Amino acid sequence: MTMTVRFLLNGKPRIVRDVEATRTVLQHLRVHERALGTKEGCAEGDCGACTVAVGRPNGEGGFDFRAVNSCILLTAELDGCAVTTVEGLADAGDNAHPAQAKLVEHHGSQCGYCTPGIAMSLFAHEREGRSGATDDIHLTLSGNLCRCTGYRPIVDAAKDMVACGRSAEFDARERKWRGELDALIEEEAGDKALIDIAGFEAPADLRELDRLLAKHPDARILAGGTDLGVAVAKRAENPGPLISLSRLDALKMIEEGEDGVVIGAAVTYEEALPTLDRHFPAFAGIVRRIGSRQVRNLGTIGGNICNASPIGDSAPCLLALNAEVVLRSVEGRRKIPLDSFFVAYRKTALKPGEYLEAIHVPFLGEGDVFRAYKLSKRYDQDISTVSAAFRLTINGGQIVAARAAFGGMAATPARAGGLEKALVGATPERSTEAAGRLDDDFRPLSDFRGSAAYRLAAARGLVERLMLDVAGEETPREVWAL
Ligand code: FES
Ligand code: FES
Repeated sequence: MTMTVRFLLNGKPRIVRDVEATRTVLQHLRVHERALGTKEGCAEGDCGACTVAVGRPNGEGGFDFRAVNSCILLTAELDGCAVTTVEGLADAGDNAHPAQAKLVEHHGSQCGYCTPGIAMSLFAHEREGRSGATDDIHLTLSGNLCRCTGYRPIVDAAKDMVACGRSAEFDARERKWRGELDALIEEEAGDKALIDIAGFEAPADLRELDRLLAKHPDARILAGGTDLGVAVAKRAENPGPLISLSRLDALKMIEEGEDGVVIGAAVTYEEALPTLDRHFPAFAGIVRRIGSRQVRNLGTIGGNICNASPIGDSAPCLLALNAEVVLRSVEGRRKIPLDSFFVAYRKTALKPGEYLEAIHVPFLGEGDVFRAYKLSKRYDQDISTVSAAFRLTINGGQIVAARAAFGGMAATPARAGGLEKALVGATPERSTEAAGRLDDDFRPLSDFRGSAAYRLAAARGLVERLMLDVAGEETPREVWAL
């Protein structure tokens, strides 16, 4: 089944009919547009050679541009967006955008294969108004692999680009493009009806979503799609009918109430970060290690939870924080603890026709501390071998309550009941004894990321690290890749 998608490509209107649900943006650009500046390296969201900037209309007459991996983004998701590729950076007089000019000036390119993707990441960095701080530039570039330059000249180019300030020329272009996109959408509004559930549907309100799911309980929900995109692009899988959450503003809300934060199911990792930084900085630290900025601009915490992977990075944090999930269907809502959501390997408590609407994360209480750790072979862009999160309540220097959750230790993300009991009253000197309880809590698997023995030893090490952390001992900092 095919559909019609309306978007701007480098400021030019596009109404693309007969788009297959599985066509990625990278395929569309290279095969159908012959826009060959966007490269394919890995086709799984790792190398960044395919980076483009996707702009969603904002309330200021322009776009919120974000760098994304076009290899794992479905073309249908572009409906109503402005896409910028490396071919669209130069101005009408063919003058390079500062992101390109500074790469040239600082010798930030050698063979050039990675360069279009790097230019697009820098372009998005500039459009987002990000800083010239080294850490922020490293985060922007952590999803762009370059085998030639050694990165220093690229980082220098990024700093110089930021120092030059925002491009007023591109601001003007953005406003013009916005007018053109609005006109295109108005003109082609009727074509939305061509979309059919047999391929891809993007409902605009929750009742429409309820009805669609009630009628097609087997449809898969696309909430960012960074895993599904890999299955389509890399393994040529046909995912069957898809329902995208990308147009559902109701699921993109983050609300801070009196007792906690409610995160809508379609909130991306990057959108959640400012709130997590304020209330749960250790959780934010883990989120910054999920994929790359391009991946975090697409992926959602809701999608990560519903994927129910035993090594999903958000789940241990949310379990330790005692989060609850709001599940919704045409029959109404129910709220359950995340503890009861993961029922078996990659299986959740969602019933047919039901979907995740939001995640409620309670604030930390008086005396509570929260810590989270991730062990993987690389710092950036890697899947956890073991991850752990702890919420401890400390009173008078004593641990009086503990919640501990782990990833990579069982078929689902799971709490460690024996360890939780042993942590109450534990001290750094007796942390080895408490950590030993993990041997009863878990029987981890061996796989290519680590043996069962390694996982148990690493998890015990994380408990000892936790105890040193909360006792205020200096523990070695994690090492940046750049
Ligand atoms: Fe490597 Fe897309 S081709 S991230
Ligand atoms: Fe060759 Fe980056 S310049 S891969």
